[in-house]
Amino acid sequence: MKLCMIGTGYVGLVSGVCFSDLGNEVICVDKDINKIKNLKDGKIPIYEPGLDELVKKNIKNKRLSFSNDLKKSVRKSNIIFICVGTPTKRGGSSADLNQVFGVAKELSKNINKYKIIITKSTVPVTTGDEIEKILIKSNSRNKFSVVSNPEFLREGEAIRDFIYPDRVVVGSNDEKSSRILKNLYSPLIAKGAKYINTSRRAAELIKYASNAFLATKITFINELANLCEKTNINVDDISIGMGLDQRIGSRFLRAGPAYGGSCFPKDTKAITSTADKFSTNLSIIKSVIKSNENRSQLMLKRVYQILNNKVKNKKISFLGVTFKANTDDMRDSSSLIMIPALSKKGALIRYFDPTGYKKEFKGYKNVSFARSISRCLEKTDLVIIHTEWNDFKSLDFLKLIKNKKIKIYDMRNLYVPSKMTNKNVKYYSVGRG
Ligand code: UDX
Repeated sequence: MKLCMIGTGYVGLVSGVCFSDLGNEVICVDKDINKIKNLKDGKIPIYEPGLDELVKKNIKNKRLSFSNDLKKSVRKSNIIFICVGTPTKRGGSSADLNQVFGVAKELSKNINKYKIIITKSTVPVTTGDEIEKILIKSNSRNKFSVVSNPEFLREGEAIRDFIYPDRVVVGSNDEKSSRILKNLYSPLIAKGAKYINTSRRAAELIKYASNAFLATKITFINELANLCEKTNINVDDISIGMGLDQRIGSRFLRAGPAYGGSCFPKDTKAITSTADKFSTNLSIIKSVIKSNENRSQLMLKRVYQILNNKVKNKKISFLGVTFKANTDDMRDSSSLIMIPALSKKGALIRYFDPTGYKKEFKGYKNVSFARSISRCLEKTDLVIIHTEWNDFKSLDFLKLIKNKKIKIYDMRNLYVPSKMTNKNVKYYSVGRG
């Protein structure tokens, strides 16, 4: 099939490349001239394991191409995926749909034959209806179908999530597009992927509901971790004990810092805002948002306690600053709250991240990037393990730190507390007494 992905951000690029690998002819379009130029040379704008090999392979076999020309690319294609950003509106909590509707207007002028227009961007319920209204102004109804096909790709695992999805959700209100979409996904269905066909509005809501539920699950265990700290219980035991109940499941029950990233913070806000619009109070999700926003302050308080409230001139080393491992994404990472707050209190901060220097900390006093783990940890007063990269899972702290008194705050529970205590390390973790 001939596919056109509009927007070569995370969603558009990963999905486009994977669809081409499944044998489709895919054009990835973006307004950003530089980005397209780089992609044509095989240079990938994001860090995603395995992506550059797939791009190179599919450019070579001529199934994947990149273009700045939306008009030409759309006219050549049968299926158009809208993959532009839907960030939170400035000063509000609803999703900003300007880019989505902008693309719909462009598409409207270029429907030269029947096309399926699909939102892959996360869009609030009824957005498909709005797109349809834009298209119908200058096109007859039998020339297009508007479909919702949300993505559930995790950063760092996106290719595997695309090829082996838990489910594929397609929301369409007509049979023709349902049939074509099922055919498009048939290679994944053949490998065992569950495929569900719903109404367009239901598919739009499934995406938000899933992300809000996962965010709730994480926040739930994070709050229980607070209780475990007061009652000398290991939260990992609670996660295992709860998770073995098949109705609950063990995934997304890892206590840690506030959840972050490009989806959970944005989508939890957007779904409550949509519900408010329909006079429905999603009070659980609202309290999840609040609890998560408080979480970084709570973890900061613990840092102050660990340092006996003497933060000024203390050397603090952050291992990892991205919102999770295997990504270079800094969006809504809890380090963006913690590092500036500690810098304001006069701490001397070094950070190491496997994905390198972060411009986000430029201009903060006494915050510097260390080129290696050993440079980051040398003669430090406190190590904060912020992100769960494999690189941080078996470090010899005694050798690396060279300080008599070693303090570690492991925000991801990567180490066994008793082993640390045996080494004379003052070890603090999350929800483990
Ligand atoms: C998420 C969804 O999982 C994906 O389906 C959706 O399409 C996009 O948003 P992503 O943002 O890449 O994916 O990251 P994810 O692995 O879900 O983690 C999100 C946040 O939750 C991170 O901050 C992570 O550290 C945190 N998390 C996750 C926990 O704190 N504990 C857990 O058990 C799992």
